[in-house]
Amino acid sequence: MSAFIVLGAQWGDEGKGKLTDYLAEEANVVVRFQGGNNAGHTVEVGEKQYKLHLIPSGILHDDKLNVIGNGVAVDPNALFSEIDYLQREGVNVTPEKLIVSDRAQLIMPYHKTLDILKEKARGKNDIGTTGKGIGPCYTDKYERCGIRVCDLLHTEVFEEKLRFNIESKNAYITNVLGGEELNFDEIFNAYVKLGERLRPFVQDTSVRVYDEIKKNQTVLFEGAQGMLLDIDHGTYPYVTSSNTTAGGVSTGIGVGPTMITNVVGIAKAYTTRVGKGPFPTELEDATGEWIREKGHEYGTTTGRSRRCGWLDVVILKTTIRVCGLTSLVVTKIDTLANLEKIKVCVGYNFEGRVIDYFPASLEDLAKCEPIYEEFDGWDDSIADARSYDEIPENAKKYLKRIEELTETKISIVSVGPKRDQTIRVRKEL
Ligand code: GDP
Ligand code: IMO
Ligand code: MG
Repeated sequence: MSAFIVLGAQWGDEGKGKLTDYLAEEANVVVRFQGGNNAGHTVEVGEKQYKLHLIPSGILHDDKLNVIGNGVAVDPNALFSEIDYLQREGVNVTPEKLIVSDRAQLIMPYHKTLDILKEKARGKNDIGTTGKGIGPCYTDKYERCGIRVCDLLHTEVFEEKLRFNIESKNAYITNVLGGEELNFDEIFNAYVKLGERLRPFVQDTSVRVYDEIKKNQTVLFEGAQGMLLDIDHGTYPYVTSSNTTAGGVSTGIGVGPTMITNVVGIAKAYTTRVGKGPFPTELEDATGEWIREKGHEYGTTTGRSRRCGWLDVVILKTTIRVCGLTSLVVTKIDTLANLEKIKVCVGYNFEGRVIDYFPASLEDLAKCEPIYEEFDGWDDSIADARSYDEIPENAKKYLKRIEELTETKISIVSVGPKRDQTIRVRKEL
């Protein structure tokens, strides 16, 4: 039995999609447990590039079961757009290959409207959300007025819940946020159709995943977003609205923590962040710009430029603590090639002492000054390395130091976006 988690160790976009696709080779089942189509996971296979948002990155393999768990916010329009896109690209998506939890919350059109209008209303204090309706959908879940996939399959229940929601949302949208009223009939008719298309994909995914684990199948849980976007442990309020950390697996799929054998944290060799919020090692200079261009750091979902900065070991230590990482994967080390000097933040100076954790208050975090160690750079040949021995010496020193500072082993090093640009340093994840 093996069930392991692949999650983002920073602020998202660490290369989870690439690594999930690579590690799916060793798994039978690939599961998304939180987030929604705010995620953008890029997978390159041969000359083809796929962009996935809601569907697990195991879908490119023919023989894997892909699961969208109860913790995921499901926009059925986005789901079917993605299925249609994959089918056009020659990737078969059938209910044998993809199942969706009957307990998953649905993203409704009013969630997207609310997301956009609330961001506008926040003015300069906006969060910089993806505008996909994620926050308002999870708000309704906790408010206990959310509409779940199982409701959509019972038309009368759906009608009643939709009527209640449209009434209260319309009042808020028009009276408070100055937006336009949404039409019940339009939404009802469109969603009933979507529900019929969804029906064959729907299952109790907690039961199914548990059964698969019991049958000795290997399950890979694919995280979306990253550690510091976690609703509880991230840089609140500049976070997403779900638990992106390892604990999200138990609640977001319905399997106990004792089922999980390994937790793999994916970290870029530097740090990026999209949207607003604190970023202690951010480079708002020519080097930051250089990294953005070399690493093509533009959002997969929104196309926004990603803010770039040095690697921050404080972030990695936080992920190790909160998620119980068993190993780290370092990606995009090729992007740093040709820089003369590379820095790593090893701690923060905070009110006269050194700390290695994130203070809860953003006011305190703003006072934290990164303490850096400096490394000599390496050249572009790293992208051609296919074994650990072929990695340039200075890059090896960089990796070794990350292991020392984090007291965590690196299991995989990624030297490019393609499947074969992946170096397995240790078998054990
Ligand atoms: P995710 O959200 O964590 O799946 O990451 P994204 O797909 O949003 O962003 C990562 C980007 O980096 C994608 O364009 C990947 O194709 C690319 N990528 C992944 N690993 C590497 C790597 O090791 N080197 C380079 N140069 N690109 C990579
Ligand atoms: P993947 O899975 C990077 C960020 C948004 C914003 C904040 C809240 O590709 O790593 P939301 O729409 O979730 O309410 O936005 O979270 N964000 C991401 N940043 N990668 C992601 O996903 C993200 N998903 C959300 O930019 O700052
Ligand atoms: Mg992404």
